[in-house]
Amino acid sequence: MAMGPALWLGPLLLVSFWGSTAPASLLRRLGEHIQRVQENSILSLNLAPETATLPKEGWLEQPLDPFNASDRRSFLQRYWINDRHWASQDGPVFLHLGGEGSLGPGSVMRGHPAALAPAFGALVIGLEHRFYGLSIPAGGLSVAQLRFLSSRHALADAVSARLALSRLLNVSASSPWICFGGSYAGSLAAWARLKFPHLLFAAVASSAPVRAVLDFSAYNEVVSRSLTSTAIGGSPECRAAVSTAFAEVGRRLRAGGAARTALRAQLGACASLGRVEDREELLGALQALVGGAVQYDGQAGAPLSVRQLCGLLLERQGNSSLLAPYRGLLRAVQVVLHSLGQRCLSFSRAETLTQLRVTEPELSRVGDRQWLYQTCTEFGFYVTCEDPRCPFSQLPALPSQLELCEKVFGLSTSSIVQAVAQTNSYYGGQTPGATQVLFVNGDTDPWQVLSITQALGPSVSALLISGASHCSDMAPERPSDSPSLRQGRQSIFQQLQSWLGPAKRSPLRGGP
Ligand SMILES: *[C@@H]1O[C@H](CO)[C@@H](O)[C@H](O)[C@H]1NC(C)=O
Ligand SMILES: *[C@@H]1O[C@H](CO)[C@@H](O)[C@H](O)[C@H]1NC(C)=O
Ligand SMILES: *[C@@H]1O[C@H](CO)[C@@H](O)[C@H](O)[C@H]1NC(C)=O
Repeated sequence: MAMGPALWLGPLLLVSFWGSTAPASLLRRLGEHIQRVQENSILSLNLAPETATLPKEGWLEQPLDPFNASDRRSFLQRYWINDRHWASQDGPVFLHLGGEGSLGPGSVMRGHPAALAPAFGALVIGLEHRFYGLSIPAGGLSVAQLRFLSSRHALADAVSARLALSRLLNVSASSPWICFGGSYAGSLAAWARLKFPHLLFAAVASSAPVRAVLDFSAYNEVVSRSLTSTAIGGSPECRAAVSTAFAEVGRRLRAGGAARTALRAQLGACASLGRVEDREELLGALQALVGGAVQYDGQAGAPLSVRQLCGLLLERQGNSSLLAPYRGLLRAVQVVLHSLGQRCLSFSRAETLTQLRVTEPELSRVGDRQWLYQTCTEFGFYVTCEDPRCPFSQLPALPSQLELCEKVFGLSTSSIVQAVAQTNSYYGGQTPGATQVLFVNGDTDPWQVLSITQALGPSVSALLISGASHCSDMAPERPSDSPSLRQGRQSIFQQLQSWLGPAKRSPLRGGP
């Protein structure tokens, strides 16, 4: 391993710097923050001298357009390799697919699939998604270039990486390759097995939203339910307090004048809130703050758990209990802004648009533009409050979200509707007809409603972990993990055993 830590920490730090100041989705900022915290804890552990075995970084030359043989353009795709546990050339290979963000060395070091590798003598490979992180094709992120960004392109990359790396690393032709991934990348893992069963032996898909949907109102239905879940510190009173706090925000926004100005200062909005679209940005960010507490509940690096959020909202301060939830929400905003090192909770819509229109890859490294493009051309996933149980009654409607696709990429609503339907017919939605796939979900995670939570026959199994949030099965183990999460991880291990045969622990390779 020639490469020192300083070299490859560089890009990670760049991501975090930009990530803390960029507008757009608070939910994405939260996800990045959590990933970064977990990655840093992994790295600092592994920089201890006795365990200083860093994964190898590599680059694969991939065709920009894998579906057009006469197009000779290519790009470099980043991958990570951990061969410490690889027992023999014909041992299994665990392929960790990256999703809508950069993929660092932690992807092959801790958490699953890396944590499962020693028991199976597996080689672990992490493959960054095209157009994210450092795997952005030369030529940037213009709309003409983004035509080469889709889940189908990502699957083609996974297959060509599987073939190229087999040759490069002399992996035996009989080695079983198993795909892993979380969230969108979990869907990719399942779809890779679905579309290329002759090359990929099985898949473990964590929190994978395999059904595309334009209006994702069910997201807030689950948020609402999870806020009442006593297992994670919620209660019916907490859910009611969220509604009350949002109603109060709405009231002050509508009142205008001094009330609105005070609200802006109290909530930390960068925009003036004079425009309706800037008020919508603020409400969207507040919704994401509460949704994020649910989605990432209990995870290392999450600024606010459901228990903490509910504690703040239900705390009685002074003599006005009517305003207590609103004041609690203000404190929750401060906690999250502080953790993210972010200057304000929401920016103006104009500023968000400016940011999303940037096509230079160095400036768009966090991937907001790319992911917006994928939602506009494949998945939708726009969170709304149209479900009757939604506690965020003031939230903007679907059209204001669709407006971004139009304003940033010139894509019409009808084209998005069509794209979502095509995605579901191409992959099969929640009945994909794949074999040897394990779907893992947490029952408090809003995304589980778009995933598969019940076995589909003998060859597609499903695990629904109670009290668990988004992708929590993939995170490194912690002493505070719940018994159900531990049991869930054990079930994943057993599923691999049943696919691969009895696990055989290998002597460590490549240790110091
Ligand atoms: C395939 O690539 C060639 C060479 O770049 C180009 O001229 C042609 O238009 C492409 N075909 C399609 C269908 O994109
Ligand atoms: C590749 O692996 C095979 C065993 O599968 C071995 O016989 C051969 O020597 C290896 N070649 C290289 C270049 O390591
Ligand atoms: C209670 O309410 C009164 C009148 O609204 C206010 O003047 C006083 O400061 C409040 N006390 C506390 C502890 O908030």
